Amino acid sequence: MAASRGFRLRLTGLANNRGLARRINLVVPCDEPFHVEAGEPTLTLEDLLGSRGAIKSVVRRMRLDFSSQVTLALQTRDAQLAKDTYDRAEAMPSHLTIEQFNMEGYQFAGQIFPGSSLVVAYQGLSAFVVKMLKNGERERVGAFRDKLSLLSRPCEDAATTTSTLNADLLNVHPHIVPFKLWEDTQRGRIFMVMPRLRETLEPLRDLSNDHASVLITQLTSALRFLHGLDFVHGDVKPANICVSDGPPASFVLIDLGSIQQIGKRVNATPPYVPLDLSRSSLLASPDVDWWMLAVTLAEKCCGKNCLVVGEGRWSASAPPKATILEHLTKNLSPEIWAGLHGEMFRGDENTK
Ligand SMILES: Nc1ncnc2c1ncn2[C@@H]1O[C@H](COP(=O)(O)OP(=O)(O)O)[C@@H](O)[C@H]1O
Ligand SMILES: [Mg+2]
Repeated sequence: MAASRGFRLRLTGLANNRGLARRINLVVPCDEPFHVEAGEPTLTLEDLLGSRGAIKSVVRRMRLDFSSQVTLALQTRDAQLAKDTYDRAEAMPSHLTIEQFNMEGYQFAGQIFPGSSLVVAYQGLSAFVVKMLKNGERERVGAFRDKLSLLSRPCEDAATTTSTLNADLLNVHPHIVPFKLWEDTQRGRIFMVMPRLRETLEPLRDLSNDHASVLITQLTSALRFLHGLDFVHGDVKPANICVSDGPPASFVLIDLGSIQQIGKRVNATPPYVPLDLSRSSLLASPDVDWWMLAVTLAEKCCGKNCLVVGEGRWSASAPPKATILEHLTKNLSPEIWAGLHGEMFRGDENTK
C-alpha cells in the first residue's frame, strides 16, 4: 500500500526480504509511519542462466574473464546477455586445453581484447590467436580445409586437423589469414590457430585513395581465390579485415569461421548486406562477398561522405544496392571504383 506521509525505505539486494520488511515495520517505533517495502529479490547468475544446466567451471570463467558483462547482465536482468556471455566463456580454451598448448611450447597471454573468447598465445616471440570453432564453423572450415588439401601436395598438407600443435600454418593466400586446425581430442573441440595480425579496419575512418586502391586490389584477389574454390567468405566487413601499414600496406581477411560453400546458407552480418540482397535465408554466392566489400568501401573510403553503417534507418541492413552504387560512383575516385565495379559486374553488366 502506498504511504501518504512519513519515510519510505526500499530493501533490495536481499534474497528474501519480504519477511524482513514486515519485521522492521513492526519493531521500529516511530510517530511518523516508517514504511519498509520489499524490493526485487536478488538475482544470481545461475537464475539468469535458467535451466540450461550451467557448468560450474564455465560460470567461474564468466566471473573472471567477463566480469563487466556479468555485472551488466545482473544489473539489467538481461538473461540473453548472460547466455551470450556464457557461450563466450565456454568457447575459451579450458585449463586442460591450455596445459596441452603449454606442453607444446605455447604460453597463453589472455583474451585478445576484453569480452572476446579469442585468446593470444605466444610461441617464442611469435604471437598467435587461438579461436575455438563452433559447431557450424567446424563443418564449414573443415570442408574448406579439405578443398585446400586437394590443392596442396601431401607433404604440404598442413591444414589437416592435427593432434600436434607444431604443424606448419597453411598459407592460403597472401591476403587471407594463414591458419592451422588443432583438435583437442579429449574434449572434442577444434581450435583455429593463426598469427596475430595488427588491428582491424574497424576503428579506422576515411582511408586515403592510395590505401583504398590497395584494399580493393588485395581483397579482390583474395575473394576471387575463394570463389575459384567454390567458397565465399560470407562476412566481409571492417571487423574481419586486418590492416598492416607496411610498407607496403597490406589488408588481410580474417574470420574464416563464416566461410561457406557456394549455394549453402550464409551468416553474413546484416548491416553490411544491402536491403534487397538479404532474405531470411541468404545463400552463399560471390555476389554476397562483392556487395559486402562495396558496403565496407562506402563506410571507409568515401572521405567526409563515408556511410554510417548499422545505424538509424539502416541499422538492420545496408541501403539497397542502387543507393550503394550511387554512393560509390559519387564518392570514390573513378580509377579506384573501376577496380571493384569490374569484378562486381563481370560479364553481367545490367542485371545486378
Ligand atoms: N589473427 C588475428 N589477428 C588480430 N586480431 C584478430 C585475429 N583474429 C581475430 N582478431 C580480432 O578478434 C575479433 C573477432 O575475431 P573473429 O575471428 O572475427 O571472430 P568472431 O566470430 O567473433 O567475429 C576480430 O574482429 C579482430 O578484432
Ligand atoms: Mg568476425
